[in-house]
Amino acid sequence: MPKEKTIKELEDLPGIGPTTAEKLRSLGYDNIEKIATAAPHELAEISGMKVDAAKQAVDAAKQATTLEYKTGSEISDKRKLLGKITTGSKNLDELLGGGVEANAITEAYGKFASGKTQLGFQLTVNAQKPVEHGGLGGTVMFVDTEGTFRPDRIEQIAKAEGADPKAVLDNVFVVRATTTDQQILSIERADKLVKDSNVKLIVVDSLMSLFRSEFLGRGALGERQQKLNSHIHKLQKLADNHDLAVYITNQVMDNPGILFGDPTTPVGGNIVAHAATTRLYMRKSKEEKRIVRLVDSPNMPEGEAVIKITPDGIKD
Ligand code: GTP
Ligand code: MG
Repeated sequence: MPKEKTIKELEDLPGIGPTTAEKLRSLGYDNIEKIATAAPHELAEISGMKVDAAKQAVDAAKQATTLEYKTGSEISDKRKLLGKITTGSKNLDELLGGGVEANAITEAYGKFASGKTQLGFQLTVNAQKPVEHGGLGGTVMFVDTEGTFRPDRIEQIAKAEGADPKAVLDNVFVVRATTTDQQILSIERADKLVKDSNVKLIVVDSLMSLFRSEFLGRGALGERQQKLNSHIHKLQKLADNHDLAVYITNQVMDNPGILFGDPTTPVGGNIVAHAATTRLYMRKSKEEKRIVRLVDSPNMPEGEAVIKITPDGIKD
């Protein structure tokens, strides 16, 4: 009997070559399930495939996807096992339902000096702690797009946590990206490092700054969002496949459309909004104090926590 080709990636489907696959991914059709539930004519229209070919691809995708049913309590058991990284602040941990979650993307947005990077540093130290001490017992990949990674600050926080500062720094793999291509590649090629070095936290600080400076003007927006979408989906895939946490920081703009309340809006549009599992809005208060607002979470109510940025790191 001839062996059936197993269908795992888009390219394994009939009529989908590497170019079409890449195009589909960039448009959000990044797995077989999404192809299986797509309408053939719609797929044909956006990808440039013939309708017949699209229909074949959709049929094959349908056959290849089997649904697995799990009971609610099975899912609940798995969720309890999911790791969380403590933020250093009990208030903030409580707001988050325990800390920054693995298998998910957590976004912090806010104005300059609101503490986004500092929280990233604290998580970089804490992710390395064993699970029973609020960590994920792994190493950290830090994608620095703004040149603001500070090893001495990591050492200072590590010391305060009673860890060996040198050992903590040795477990941080820093990529200084100065173009969106470098930023994207750092994540595309992360699989091996993640596996070989047991990376449990990926920080992207910041997600949008290079995208914003490279893709200027309305005309470039479509291309920017396509690239961004595929970048974020790769981050999500790493989080899913390796049970790791992703922490991204984001910039803000004033949204003149909002007449009441705080007009501060994160940049990146719907793509970032949908991709981030949990969104935190950070803002400055008096002196060391920062207010962190949980704006979006799959399972926790909206709310606020007050934290402090101290010499020893994030505290209550
Ligand atoms: P942008 O990247 O500019 O958008 O800001 P951000 O939100 O990343 O701000 P960041 O996390 O860099 O926070 C900066 C603030 O943290 C500073 O204004 C200080 O109040 C505080 N901070 C930074 N470094 C230290 C430090 O070494 N010790 C203490 N105690 N506070 C620090
Ligand atoms: Mg910063």
